[in-house]
Amino acid sequence: MGNLIIGQQSLDRYFSQSHERSDLITHDELVTAYPTMAKNAMEGQPVGSSAGGEQPKFTVRVDRGGEIENLLVKFSPPVHSVEGRRWADLLICEHIALDIVGEVGIAAVKTSLVVAEDRVFLEVTRFDRVGRCGRLPMISLRAIDNEFYGRQDNWVAAADRMEADGRLTSDDARNLRWLWVFGDLIANTDKHFGNVSLASVSADRFTLRPAYDMLPMLYRPMDGAAPELTFKPPVFSTQAANQWDSALTAAATFWERAAADNRISERFRQICDDNLAIVRSLEKGPRLIP
Ligand SMILES: Nc1ncnc2c1ncn2[C@@H]1O[C@H](COP(=O)(O)OP(=O)(O)O)[C@@H](O)[C@H]1O
Ligand SMILES: [Mg+2]
Repeated sequence: MGNLIIGQQSLDRYFSQSHERSDLITHDELVTAYPTMAKNAMEGQPVGSSAGGEQPKFTVRVDRGGEIENLLVKFSPPVHSVEGRRWADLLICEHIALDIVGEVGIAAVKTSLVVAEDRVFLEVTRFDRVGRCGRLPMISLRAIDNEFYGRQDNWVAAADRMEADGRLTSDDARNLRWLWVFGDLIANTDKHFGNVSLASVSADRFTLRPAYDMLPMLYRPMDGAAPELTFKPPVFSTQAANQWDSALTAAATFWERAAADNRISERFRQICDDNLAIVRSLEKGPRLIP
């Protein structure tokens, strides 16, 4: 990942592919190419370079009138299944959530939705690639935490200790805390250390890369079913008291927008509407005055 290429084979592949254009697709080809690439990814065949994370996805380079866009593409199963419909709803939610993160002024990946055949695709612009051969730095918070602390507890605690040790600026630390609280409030139960990436500024100083993988994972399909759980909102986070009000407003915007988005199934929009009421009820709750 990032700008590190590990091993001779990977290095050879990098240089041999640097002047190839055969893996590029044009914008017009997307709708026919994506379903095939999704099928191949499901069957475990190599599509582009391998991408980490928990869900199946593929990488692709798109030629948009000479400009090369490097994308990571996540996709739902066919939407006629219960599971497929729920994953499609969640990908649409991911698009909405990351837009909102960007709107509050915290860097987030740019995403767009494509519907092709019977799947929903979420295109995510890669921040570790640029143009045809460019590679940009990226290190998982998991790796950094293991190197310096070995805790992997939560993003707020990670932000606190990295800021205290001069490894993160106070702005980045604040943004990381905000992302944790916002994630809590949009039912993102998947806030592990692999879902935050940084880049090194020097041997022991880091800067936050754009936010990604932010969605209400509480509702992820399980054993072929789509859970209808009641969202239990987090208690007021005293560790991130300064982030609470802003994250709460943003979370209400998230549930409101998702509830009104007619690309999302009616059933899930109802869940979003219920969660909007739950989150709104927190607006009147107690606060810690810092
Ligand atoms: N926009 C991006 N640019 C570069 N790398 C990314 C980007 N988005 C995600 N990644 C990397 O890919 C991994 C998988 O993506 P993620 O969105 O977390 O998928 P999953 O839902 O499968 O966990 C992340 O852990 C991160 O390392
Ligand atoms: Mg992830």
